[in-house]
Amino acid sequence: MTQKLFVTTALPYANAGFHIGHMMEYIQADIWVRFQRMRGAQVNFVCADDAHGAPIMIAAERAGKTPQAFVAEIAAGRKQYLDGFHIGFDNWHSTDAPENHQLAREIYLALRKNELIDVRTIEQFFDPVKGMFLPDRYIKGECPNCGTKDQYGDNCENCGAVYLPTDLKHPYSALSGARPELRTSEHYFFRLSDPRCVEYLQNWTQDGKLQPEVANKVREWFALDEHGVIRLGDWDISRDAPYFGIEIPDAPGKYFYVWLDAPVGYLASLKNLFHKRGEDFEAYLADPQLRQVHFIGKDIVTFHTLFWPAMLHFSGRKVPDNVYVHGFITVGGDKMSKSRGTGISPLRYLELGLDAQWLRYYIAAKLNARVEDIDFNPEDFVARVNADLVGKYINIASRAAGFLTKRFDGRLAADVGVEGRALLDGLRAHGATVQQLYDEREFGKAVREIMLLADRVNEYVDQHKPWELAKRDDRRDALHDVCTVCIEAFRVLTIYLKPILPALAARVEAFLNVGPLDFADAQRALGSHRIGAYQHLMQRVDPDKLEALFEAPAAPATPAAAPGGEALAPQIGIDDFAKVDLRIAQIVVAEAVPGSSKLLKLTLDVGEGRHRTVFSGIKSAYTPEQLTGKFTVVVANLAPRNMKFGVSEGMVLAASHADEKQHPGLYVLEPWPGATPGLRVR
Ligand code: 2FM
Ligand code: ZN
Repeated sequence: MTQKLFVTTALPYANAGFHIGHMMEYIQADIWVRFQRMRGAQVNFVCADDAHGAPIMIAAERAGKTPQAFVAEIAAGRKQYLDGFHIGFDNWHSTDAPENHQLAREIYLALRKNELIDVRTIEQFFDPVKGMFLPDRYIKGECPNCGTKDQYGDNCENCGAVYLPTDLKHPYSALSGARPELRTSEHYFFRLSDPRCVEYLQNWTQDGKLQPEVANKVREWFALDEHGVIRLGDWDISRDAPYFGIEIPDAPGKYFYVWLDAPVGYLASLKNLFHKRGEDFEAYLADPQLRQVHFIGKDIVTFHTLFWPAMLHFSGRKVPDNVYVHGFITVGGDKMSKSRGTGISPLRYLELGLDAQWLRYYIAAKLNARVEDIDFNPEDFVARVNADLVGKYINIASRAAGFLTKRFDGRLAADVGVEGRALLDGLRAHGATVQQLYDEREFGKAVREIMLLADRVNEYVDQHKPWELAKRDDRRDALHDVCTVCIEAFRVLTIYLKPILPALAARVEAFLNVGPLDFADAQRALGSHRIGAYQHLMQRVDPDKLEALFEAPAAPATPAAAPGGEALAPQIGIDDFAKVDLRIAQIVVAEAVPGSSKLLKLTLDVGEGRHRTVFSGIKSAYTPEQLTGKFTVVVANLAPRNMKFGVSEGMVLAASHADEKQHPGLYVLEPWPGATPGLRVR
């Protein structure tokens, strides 16, 4: 029977372009979907922008746009990435679309009817200047445990303490700087603590549909209370206006928390697709054969394995059949940071003319079915693409095609010898394993398997040496035979790699003069068939180009504006920067220098067990009292300089405008609280 699959990837927040982590998830899901289609499954593969929430509302406001206009601009930028990396979603929608508003409300009302919604009064910080309740991440203050300043509302970066925003000392709003006030507000809760929910989710999460390590992790979230009863906490699903989101029915001024309506966006995107096709969405979901699969990252497991299935089940809807969780992608061993990125921008990758399929192949080669992080390593990337993909696989075609076209008018031999047949049968026999590995998302193992098969073919070519057979008229049949085996083998390997390399497979199909290949085609021989002219199929990676991927984009030759009154200095590499040894210093003593109107004499502790003297031209901006005891940053490996008043052993960093007369102001750098003398600044 035809498999019916509804597949999604996580919906990305509509506040930025994609990073490499998004692309990894889309590539993983896309490979799986293409594989399922190649073996006859009927798949709907959808995604959408996750449009709602406070951060997007605030970002839009900062950009001077309505949230709707802001997310629309982000949405308009999606296509270039998706097309560029051959991600074949059937639909891309938005959680702010009417389908989602409607579905989210329907689900909520069904939960309410099922007595799973509670209203409770909670206390929360309110920003009187912005006129809004503050999400935890927008409240800062002093750590209640160690006193470090400027810590976020949930935990301290210095001592690691975890607390409530209301525990912070001297709290302030990160949006306005105002002192937040504690105010009460009515919030809506999804009663996950209800025994029905607990029982249902215990089953749902532990019955084999999740990866074992995910199921184990989830088990930890079911806590035993003092009576030995298994508990889950209720989930706060409402936010107060102003909020960019979906208004809660019968609750004016209350909106669904973004994480309530985000996964509903999976259904909304599917519904929109069905509407466009004129097909019945509810009937499709009611089909007991339909399998619903979500691909997600390891950071959003709770939402997808507790809240989402409970929302669906207790509103009388179909629940997910699988949630497939992947790890993160690091680059050169460095963990990705949302602010710093990873050094690999997917768009820059495309702009540099790097082949998207290299990345698809590389990521596939690294992926498995577990929740493990994978690392993008440039040398490894070059080796795998050049030595394996091009060296082992593409080469098979280029070695044989020329002879076939020139000597045999592109005709394959109707039959091949025993040895050739054995080789091809061997390749075909591995089809089932390759399919199983794809199905299990063991892409790395599938790639290894396929490359081992390519090795066999190359051994066959090396043994039979078509280039030598071509020199002898009496070996014409043997040449025909060997080249036919190569092309047949190449076709089988192309089928095996097609989920990963869809564009390449299309070129191969044109060159072989065959229709779209699927897995069943691997089991049949082409027989006496005429192939087309060989066309170049794939380049090797040029390592220099790959290096350019990691460099910051070159600064424009004529900067549009000269920040701070001066053009940027010529670009340097990280090695140049590393030559400057910047250290945290504490100003132990600051004193005036008799006879100097500009200088202050600073006695610095740079963590060396001795003090340094530095003369600094900052007298116009600071009194010695202001500086004494403060921390700053010093260039610690600057050659000592003999000055009129003594030797200066370093330089304190300060910011100023190039034109100090027009733009007075001098600002000594001060590290964030917690830095201690001697720490390196990098
Ligand atoms: O973590 C994220 O990027 C969320 N925008 C994912 C949402 S997935 C689904 F629930 F919409
Ligand atoms: Zn602390």
